[in-house]
Amino acid sequence: MLAGKRILLIIGGGIAAYKSLDLIRRLRERGAAVTPVLTRAGTEFVTPLSVSALAGEKVYTDLFDLTDEAEMGHIQLSRVADLVVVAPATADLMAKMAHGHANDLASTLLMATDTPVLMAPAMNVRMWEHPATQRNLAQLLGDGLRVVGPNAGDMACGEYGPGRMSEPLEIVAAIETALGQGPLAGKRILVTSGPTHEPIDPVRYIANRSSGAQGTAIARALASLGAEVVFVTGPADVPAPQGVKVVRVETAQQMLTAVEAALPADAAVFAAAVADWRVASSSGSKIKKDAGRLPVLEFAENPDILATVSQRKTDRPRLVVGFAAETDDVIANATAKRARKGCDWIVANDVSPATGIMGGTENAVHLITVEGREDWPRMSKQQVAAQLAARIAQALV
Ligand SMILES: Cc1cc2nc3c(=O)[nH]c(=O)nc-3n(C[C@H](O)[C@H](O)[C@H](O)COP(=O)(O)O)c2cc1C
Repeated sequence: MLAGKRILLIIGGGIAAYKSLDLIRRLRERGAAVTPVLTRAGTEFVTPLSVSALAGEKVYTDLFDLTDEAEMGHIQLSRVADLVVVAPATADLMAKMAHGHANDLASTLLMATDTPVLMAPAMNVRMWEHPATQRNLAQLLGDGLRVVGPNAGDMACGEYGPGRMSEPLEIVAAIETALGQGPLAGKRILVTSGPTHEPIDPVRYIANRSSGAQGTAIARALASLGAEVVFVTGPADVPAPQGVKVVRVETAQQMLTAVEAALPADAAVFAAAVADWRVASSSGSKIKKDAGRLPVLEFAENPDILATVSQRKTDRPRLVVGFAAETDDVIANATAKRARKGCDWIVANDVSPATGIMGGTENAVHLITVEGREDWPRMSKQQVAAQLAARIAQALV
């Protein structure tokens, strides 16, 4: 059921726009309210009158409409909903979203919104398979947009292949999941990600090669199953996913404070590559280069976030998952780490430079639990994330 939920529905200029009329009906049957927006091209395919009559609400079409802007400014309009749905998402709308254009109402709302976005692409198979569309799709997925479809089948243009918009009920199911009615609905999960930066002085720091890609993918996968995700991230290379609560930190000490503030949680996944040491007394001003004299850095041990949370007497999450990035004796080291830290699972991977995993797009992990070890095949970090999120959902039922 979608009672009490509001969907901002952006209808692009494609043949499949007619299916969006049925989508509005299906959403309203389930108790959702629909605020409709039509692109200019969209008005060539379905009339504002039909859309407005089915939604039972005013339809918005123009960025520079004096009355609309006075009644409800476009920024406010972008924030009214629990979810923004783009259906059909044309090749053009996908390109605009991927490149951050904001030259009409739909694209401006998509840039201004702070709510998750789900798109249902629909286009000719050649347009869908075009490298530009596929590049845009990869960019949008990386930015955290959710996608439903397209399906393969006969198309209005007479060709066959992927490009048909998902059916209205498929889109409704994707909306329900996006709105947290998936298997992790009602579960709060903490995810840490990225490297930490430990200052030497105000301009220099010690870091590591973690990009944050795996932790980000895990947060996104958990959110897509309906979890409420608190995402505590160090300075990562990849953007934080949409639809999660993002807490940005720099140092290991700040990360521990943010993690403790985020508890209680049902599960915690510690994917961040936290620096083991920090500079004991970082300088308040830039250390000057002094000919013939080299600075000597003394280190202090950073807090062990995984062990601290795993061994908490109160508020310990039911499931604590740690990561072990190793270059030697991966399994032995990770197994020992699980016992030493007191966590439930360890996701272990070999981050030797030859594997290309650290900073790369793929991962090959071993899941180490009290029952033993599973060796997962090498796959994309998104697939690792999806598989891990599904396992977490099973463990929390
Ligand atoms: C008959 C017809 C059907 C079209 N169907 C699609 C479509 O299914 N998907 C698509 O991406 N573009 C389609 N187009 C092209 C878009 O309408 C065009 O790119 C337009 O600029 C999209 O504007 P919008 O993204 O602002 O809605 C179609 C054009 C015509 C004339």
